[in-house]
Amino acid sequence: MTTGRKLDRGVLILGIETSCDETAAAVVQGGHKVLSNVIASQIDVHKIFGGVVPEIASRHHLTTINKVVEASLEEAGVSMQEIDAVAVTKGPGLVGAVLIGLATAKAMAFALGKPLIGVNHIRGHICAALLEYPELKPPFLALVVSGGHTSLVDVCGLSGKSGEMTVLGSTRDDAVGEAYDKVARMLGLGYPGGPQIDALAKQGKEGAVVFKRVMLEEGSLDFSFSGIKTGTLNYINSMKQAGRPLRKADIAAGFQEAVIDVLSAKAKMGLALTGYRTLAIVGGVAANSALRERMRKDTEQLGIKLCIPSSVFCTDNAAMVAGAGYYQYLAGLTDTLDLDAFASLSL
Ligand code: KG4
Ligand code: ZN
Repeated sequence: MTTGRKLDRGVLILGIETSCDETAAAVVQGGHKVLSNVIASQIDVHKIFGGVVPEIASRHHLTTINKVVEASLEEAGVSMQEIDAVAVTKGPGLVGAVLIGLATAKAMAFALGKPLIGVNHIRGHICAALLEYPELKPPFLALVVSGGHTSLVDVCGLSGKSGEMTVLGSTRDDAVGEAYDKVARMLGLGYPGGPQIDALAKQGKEGAVVFKRVMLEEGSLDFSFSGIKTGTLNYINSMKQAGRPLRKADIAAGFQEAVIDVLSAKAKMGLALTGYRTLAIVGGVAANSALRERMRKDTEQLGIKLCIPSSVFCTDNAAMVAGAGYYQYLAGLTDTLDLDAFASLSL
């Protein structure tokens, strides 16, 4: 009888995410319906340091997590007892930060007698695409663009079993979001830099400043963004030395055009290699307005279905963790209470 009722209302997963500087909890029904998505951002705390300070992040997660979980249940109109499982980011991330979410999830799972589901953060980002595109079915290609990761992933399944997701290429140096943040710092913009460059580039002139597109060896699906970053720094220094004014908007536009050209070219190569007709773009940088517009045009031309989550599901959130946890729950892939936190973790 309980199972029948569960199927009627859809499995309810509580997701918890604390891998970096967002303390987040969400309730997702049936893998797609986001009943709540609460995010307490620590940006104001970290921006005076120009980046995330791991120890401070952990301490803030600790003081915030219970309130955030309570708020997510209240907003969803769901009691703790009604939750079917607790899904939580187990890594990759700042290990001290991940531990706070993990300890919270373990305590809840134990007290409620519900399954605990450890979720790979990158899998979470990929599953964010499913929240708003329930029709999206593997196989598809995922371009993961975040502050810590940049990769092209061949997604053959969602259950969480190993071997379902294959990394076809990834960055050899900086992640794309990291490059955005560093270039923003060079230009004296605030943290996080991605949204600042996104906004500033809109006022820049296309083609006024051109940076090299680093494509690596022919056929390689790997990425490299440190060259574009250094190229930007060299350009800024040469303008300063020559006593010429810094046209920050043009520099932001030039940097962004170079980055987007590379992302677009590599995504197209990945589509050609796999023969897939669907591309999902996920992770914080997928919130970038120019990337979204460019990829919409490019995929339209090729007749490729493009799935980019709304911005709130691109940057770190717990709905994506609950969403990914749902598929693991269906596959019976749950964890025991001795689950570890991982600073690095492959897909
Ligand atoms: O996925 P995410 O929230 O955290 C990680 O898992 O890393 O990504 C954060 C990254 C930051 O580098 C941030 O600058 C970038 O995503 N980002 C953006 C935009 N919004 C966030 N980059 C470019 N344009 C944006 N609108
Ligand atoms: Zn992330």
